Amino acid sequence: MFRITEGIKFISCSGIRNWSLSCVNGLRFKIHENELELDDEKEFRSEKFPFVWLRDNCTCSQCFQPASKARFVLMKDLKLDVKPKTVDTHLDENEVKITWEDGHVSEFARDWLLARSFADEKVKQRLAEERGQDQKITWDASYIKNMKQHKFQDVMNCNESLLSWLQDLRLYGLTILNEMESHPKALRALLNRIGFPKSTHYGEEFSVIAKPDPNNLAYTNSSLGLHVDLPFYQYNPGIQFLHCVKQTDMSGGDNEFVDGFNLAGIIRRSHPKYWNLLTKLAINFWDRGSEQFSGEFYKYTSLPTFQLNAFGEVYRVNFNNQVRDNVMNIPLKDVKDLYEALMFLNDLAYDPQNMILYKLQAGECVIFDNQRILHGRRGYALEEGGHRYLQGGYMDWDEVNSKINVLRSSRIET
Ligand SMILES: [Fe+2]
Ligand SMILES: [Zn+2]
Repeated sequence: MFRITEGIKFISCSGIRNWSLSCVNGLRFKIHENELELDDEKEFRSEKFPFVWLRDNCTCSQCFQPASKARFVLMKDLKLDVKPKTVDTHLDENEVKITWEDGHVSEFARDWLLARSFADEKVKQRLAEERGQDQKITWDASYIKNMKQHKFQDVMNCNESLLSWLQDLRLYGLTILNEMESHPKALRALLNRIGFPKSTHYGEEFSVIAKPDPNNLAYTNSSLGLHVDLPFYQYNPGIQFLHCVKQTDMSGGDNEFVDGFNLAGIIRRSHPKYWNLLTKLAINFWDRGSEQFSGEFYKYTSLPTFQLNAFGEVYRVNFNNQVRDNVMNIPLKDVKDLYEALMFLNDLAYDPQNMILYKLQAGECVIFDNQRILHGRRGYALEEGGHRYLQGGYMDWDEVNSKINVLRSSRIET
């Protein structure tokens, strides 16, 4: 509810260019051609807010749906040159009230405006915070000594433990949950604790057991080269879960893990020619077949090995020799060079200085960033009477990031 308070001046927009004071010690404002400038000589200093932005972000219940906090106003109804008819400020309530030329009234709290400041240093600060969340700690083989491990029961029962684990997952890209029940259904409980699993043509989850006539190399007992899963998806799974229900008693069956962002950093610093090829030339990935869950599928993408974001940083690694297509839509002169670059990357990945070897035990679950970490498997001998059994699942980063945001904000609010 808006309340007219003593000491308020209603000031016409036209011709006003000097500071106007709404009351003694008050919030001063200046009306410019396209923006409103506010100044209270305290922390507010001088802050400018464009009229089109103010009108666009009117928070009244006609403009924003209160429950969903979503904008009602259609863009076609927003006027680029919208102007206020009157502006007044209420220092006692720290409010700014704008009456627009069409009579619509918008009110803004001072703190609300401050949190959305367009001042250079505030914008930079917010961007740094945003990018800080994307920060990664890259690692080599020495990560095995202090690999982030968390207890399954803690993560399931305590929000602080869940937050701590998910933050580790985002930062390091590879974590282990231990003391998990050795039952195939335990993984679903974990996925549900965070968000929604990502379905693929293999279903909502998948079981990695050596099986006859496999349609994926994972379902054999042979070695699997280092790779990311499903690069033939344009939106490939952000996170992979592999829960060890049963490990082979025979030798082999170890998992291999390599930090793809670490490899990218090495190549960027020391091999610019390879860096150029691996960031510019697209590789085609494909998978075609049929699954009980999905019926026939035919997936296809064309992506460079290292995908860069607007800041020139790697945000996704696409490397999977098993499903790399034989069609190459690149200039003939680049073919051999690209092979050379890929072979260099592969050798670097298998360098013992970069690779972690970890044999999961029953009751452990490895969770890793599938857009960053290359994983592989050492072959193992099939044994009578029992099989190595991993239960796998995927999830999008959107789900994990959302859970982190929810847990962090509830911590701030409590
Ligand atoms: Fe895999
Ligand atoms: Zn409104």
